[in-house]
Amino acid sequence: MKKILFLCMTALMSVAMLTAGCGDNAADRDSSSSSSTAKTLKIGSSADFAPFEFQGADSNEYQGFDMDLIRAIGKEMGTDVEINNIAFDGLIPALQSGNIDIAISGMSITDERKQQVGFSDPYYDSGLTIAVKADNNDINSFADLKGKKIAVQIGTTGAEEAKKIPDAQVKEMNSSADTFLELKAGNVDAVVNDKPVNDYYMVKNSDNTVKRVGEKLTSESYGIAVKKDNTKLVGELNAALKKLKENGEYNKIYKKWFGTEPTDNK
Ligand code: ARG
Repeated sequence: MKKILFLCMTALMSVAMLTAGCGDNAADRDSSSSSSTAKTLKIGSSADFAPFEFQGADSNEYQGFDMDLIRAIGKEMGTDVEINNIAFDGLIPALQSGNIDIAISGMSITDERKQQVGFSDPYYDSGLTIAVKADNNDINSFADLKGKKIAVQIGTTGAEEAKKIPDAQVKEMNSSADTFLELKAGNVDAVVNDKPVNDYYMVKNSDNTVKRVGEKLTSESYGIAVKKDNTKLVGELNAALKKLKENGEYNKIYKKWFGTEPTDNK
């Protein structure tokens, strides 16, 4: 009997040691996280932003460039990832409260956000563009948006930029898809949103009732966000990203969603 007990204890101890070992490999979980040995990283993303994050019509599975990238990063780090759909303007609060470990959501690295969260190295170069109805010939540049009605997604850089336009009426929508609906319904004159998302929308929906105006208005880079000062996790994310760029996995994912090899997104 004593021997069995001893064996059981040894087995238990090795399990505990194993788990602790895996924990080292996982994210740096601070006191606000549930467990110091949890192996699953909680990811937050606003799944309304094709081709970066969205749910397919026939399956609820999260799809897109960011989703494939974070799964590949998790694999590289030896952790599982659990994706949660969180409204874009709720992502930074969710990081701050410790409800999620990571936000990947086409989030542009800005000075303002850097005060609130930590960012990985940039992983995608983006910027804002304008979309209007195809028959609109008045709006040809950002300057033409003066005094116009503009739909944006709440909490985004598009919303920030639109609010700087003199006399513009800015309508803040919960999702990026809603901004297009507002445009198509004729409730607004223009949408200000990220270029790759506007482009994908037009191609994917073969929507010739809307068009993109001009070139990029801003240059922005997407970063993966973590709780501020979680430098350990930032380091792990950057190492994984670097590895995926070196071993061709990043390029593979890029090609899957954008149809080309990355040029300026290396
Ligand atoms: N890049 C823009 C920003 O950081 C928009 C991101 C919106 N992302 C989303 N998943 N809806 O503000």
